[in-house]
Amino acid sequence: MYHRSVLLSESIEGLAIRPDGIYVDATFGGGGHAGEILKRLTTGKLYAFDQDEEAIRNSPGDPRLVLINNNFRYLKNFLRLHKAIPVDGILADLGISSHQIDEASRGFSTRYEAALDMRMDTRKDITAGTIVNTYPEEKLAMLFRVYGEIRNPGKAAYLLAAAREQKAITTTQELKDVLMACAERGKENKFFAQVFQALRIEVNQELEVLKELLKQSLEVLKPGGRAVIISYHSLEDKLVKNYFRSGKFEGDVEQDFYGNKMVPWKMITRKPIVTTDEEIEENSRSRSARLRIAEKL
Ligand SMILES: C[S@@+](CC[C@H](N)C(=O)[O-])C[C@H]1O[C@@H](n2cnc3c(N)ncnc32)[C@H](O)[C@@H]1O
Repeated sequence: MYHRSVLLSESIEGLAIRPDGIYVDATFGGGGHAGEILKRLTTGKLYAFDQDEEAIRNSPGDPRLVLINNNFRYLKNFLRLHKAIPVDGILADLGISSHQIDEASRGFSTRYEAALDMRMDTRKDITAGTIVNTYPEEKLAMLFRVYGEIRNPGKAAYLLAAAREQKAITTTQELKDVLMACAERGKENKFFAQVFQALRIEVNQELEVLKELLKQSLEVLKPGGRAVIISYHSLEDKLVKNYFRSGKFEGDVEQDFYGNKMVPWKMITRKPIVTTDEEIEENSRSRSARLRIAEKL
């Protein structure tokens, strides 16, 4: 199986699909969410993005589906090109698919020996290897602290900077060997997962592109149109929460001259929807999922 869709019924319900509407799936992956949207459309259309060309091969060949092999940071441009603005709903199921994790050569998994890659879009130049071998030590420490939330980011960055003086670090195993001294005994897996997460976020600029997606969603949605976002780590979820709550990433609500709050969204979910124990049992990767839904005012 390419990917097991997470929070499928909850997210599709959240889109409140109109059969003749225009929808966007920003993260096509294995096409699980897209397939459910298509089932609910009659004359409607679905524009789906994925920057990984392997995902594009999952196309069901449905005439109502337009698949775009590009980054969702270009949402507005592509929708304009297809004369699809305004749209009725946008869904994004962020992060990487099971296929990307399980495909050893992509370098996403701490479990496999592979080149330090981690690009979702393999046409891009910057890999995890570029970051590990060329970023200044302070920048590496910042990535490990902010994106990885590891306990000793300075030490990890120092060890990498010292090791690469001797020889470039080119594989996942070499990276783990260099950093092993930073990992708490018995918690090595968690530590390396955090290190890999930090590198992956930087390689794919995951927080920057999410901000662009959210801002452009507000621009392309019809009033009453829904944005449905599933995120998998707290940094992403915080951006989504703040943006839905206030229209700002920092969460501060703007007021007009008279002191009225200027909020562009109505939050449909006050608290994020999370996976049930049943879903987690079937698919442990769904554990960290947070679903938030908002309606454009
Ligand atoms: C979690 S999977 C989506 C799975 C999908 N919802 C399903 O049910 O099969 C995320 C997918 O989004 C893609 N992706 C992540 N960030 C992206 C971005 N900024 N632009 C385009 N595609 C992106 C990844 O390549 C991956 O295939």
